[in-house]
Amino acid sequence: MLTSKKIVVCVTGGIAVYKAVALVSKLTQAGADVKVIMTRSAMEFVQPLSFQVMSRNDVYVDTFDEKDSSVIAHINLADWADLVIVAPATANVIGKLANGIADDMVTTTLLATTAKVWIAPAMNVHMYDNAAVKRNIARLSEDGYSFIEPSEGFLACGYVGKGRLEEPENIVKLVEDYFSPKDLPLKGQKVVVTAGPTRERIDPVRFLTNFSSGKMGYAMAEAAANLGADTVLISGPVSIDAPSNVTFVSVESAQGMYDAVVAQFDTASIVIKTAAVADYKPKVVQAQKMKKQPGEATIALERTTDILAELGTRKTNQLLIGFAAETNDVVHYAKGKLEKKNADYIIANDVTEAGSGFGTDTNSVTLVGHNGVEMHFPHLTKKELALQLLQTIIQLEKDGRK
Ligand code: CTP
Repeated sequence: MLTSKKIVVCVTGGIAVYKAVALVSKLTQAGADVKVIMTRSAMEFVQPLSFQVMSRNDVYVDTFDEKDSSVIAHINLADWADLVIVAPATANVIGKLANGIADDMVTTTLLATTAKVWIAPAMNVHMYDNAAVKRNIARLSEDGYSFIEPSEGFLACGYVGKGRLEEPENIVKLVEDYFSPKDLPLKGQKVVVTAGPTRERIDPVRFLTNFSSGKMGYAMAEAAANLGADTVLISGPVSIDAPSNVTFVSVESAQGMYDAVVAQFDTASIVIKTAAVADYKPKVVQAQKMKKQPGEATIALERTTDILAELGTRKTNQLLIGFAAETNDVVHYAKGKLEKKNADYIIANDVTEAGSGFGTDTNSVTLVGHNGVEMHFPHLTKKELALQLLQTIIQLEKDGRK
């Protein structure tokens, strides 16, 4: 969830430093790129090596220890960060920051950054209650800093009270929530996208397939995820990488795709069937490699299940979106499929058109819908087209409900 998010964790000297090791580990596991800065007193508790291993990055301690001579480390880190977390934050660092003091790597970076800064205090309960500390916290809040309240409980100093560093997993949750996109139209919805070709085995070394590259389906999945959907991409064999923000399910045959889609269907809000599913499969899959014989050969084929049509009979509240690859009378056939498969929308393209269809990076399609809509989308990249199609369908559905 935190993929490609850049987080600087400033670690200051308190017994809770050990929890900061767990925090850095969890942030890294969640996909964030984490860089750690330690104060000298933090190093009295834990060696920089622990943070280096957990973050898989260099750890910064000394303002004057420039690891890369082409940049000034504290300015570079300050600019690099999407978010800065001070955990644990001692009364000392809070006091320095509240007064604009910058005398080490942590405080110089904190003053230099324009990124959001979260401060997670951890200290003795009486220190936390001290008037000066309270004053400094209030001042920093006014200045726009955010605080992660310490929790109550047993403190290392023997007291019971407020002052424990918030648990690392709770801090990670806050960070994930901070970065999770707000107000996206598909937030809270599950979108299932199928993509690519299927392979129907003939014998152990041969199969029937088609030219689908998966590009349009992968673009649809990426667009759905970028619009906030919890996206499941079910794909036949292709040679492109899945978007990082989707759940990926790999399948081979039409039957495998059918099983995977049905397993997701009840909890889905939208199903987009971009896959070029084989309509036929060999009646018998030979256990041994077929040997050539003189003369002609025939492979008996039988129909696969039409997944979209099957979903059309099962659907309750799901929106069903199909694709149609045609070579002529595109809109006519698309409308036929819309009705026959009980789909809500069919996105149809003429695969004979230049820059359209299998393997290309661009496409031009016509959207036909249950609401009588018929809209043409001229030549666009598959990624742009995917986003426009989804945004259009979301708007049409919204208008339809008014
Ligand atoms: N489809 C499916 N299961 C199949 C075949 C197709 O779910 N066994 C879906 C495709 O994913 C696509 C839509 O049906 O969303 C249209 O597929 P297409 O192959 O163009 O249409 P067919 O129904 O196979 O019709 P025809 O072969 O007559 O063009």
